[in-house]
Amino acid sequence: MLVGAVFMVMSLTAWSRGSAAIPLSGEEIITQIHSLATLYKINSTLVLSTYLQHQGSPFSDINFSFPSWFENGLPTAAMGFKAWRCLCPGDRLLQARQAFSAISEFFQLVRDDQMSLNPTATELHRLLEIAQRSSEALLSNLNEAMLILGYQPQSTQPEPLSWASTDESTFKRKVRGYVLCREYRDWLMRVPKDMEILRAARNRRESAGPDRKDCCRS
Ligand SMILES: *[C@@H]1O[C@H](CO)[C@@H](O)[C@H](O)[C@H]1NC(C)=O
Ligand SMILES: *[C@@H]1O[C@H](CO)[C@@H](O)[C@H](O)[C@H]1NC(C)=O
Repeated sequence: MLVGAVFMVMSLTAWSRGSAAIPLSGEEIITQIHSLATLYKINSTLVLSTYLQHQGSPFSDINFSFPSWFENGLPTAAMGFKAWRCLCPGDRLLQARQAFSAISEFFQLVRDDQMSLNPTATELHRLLEIAQRSSEALLSNLNEAMLILGYQPQSTQPEPLSWASTDESTFKRKVRGYVLCREYRDWLMRVPKDMEILRAARNRRESAGPDRKDCCRS
């Protein structure tokens, strides 16, 4: 109940602030993305487990895992710790934005897949729909952050899904949904950490004065 209420308020904030006359400060947008990701993270494990339960064997088997399976066009949150730690602020935001742009697209595809594969799984459909909306809310906040923090927003168009890959076997469609739910969860774990690093880097830059260059700032 409480989580539901907080979710409503935060979504509303994200939405109405996006079109408000007074833009958020850099600090505020970073905090907002951090809070949204932390909030959405709570349900992401449930989305993954509910998804797996409905796909039959081997997906529904205890301890099911395909850690090395990736989906074309869906950026993975996994990367080496040193490489992640050394990302410059613009790249950090850009990677998250690209991920949630792809994730929102894939949720639409996977929701359609599940409508035909598991038409009666209403709780799953509801969770997938909430996850898609949550991804879209994060994406719009990440887009806003790029502007507010002064990073060059590159093309907002996600890499288009190839039509050939939408016509897959049942098994491949199930795998695609699995990888999506897994990456969604992993990105929601990564983004709050990204925001903490971003905040610390900004504070350092401000105390070092305006001349200090950032490798991503043009
Ligand atoms: C979590 O999932 C429940 C449905 O099980 C939903 O009612 C709730 O709004 C979700 N919370 C968030 C923060 O998405
Ligand atoms: C699942 O994993 C747990 C802990 O890693 C292990 O104890 C258990 O035997 C595993 N179950 C099966 C069915 O493999």
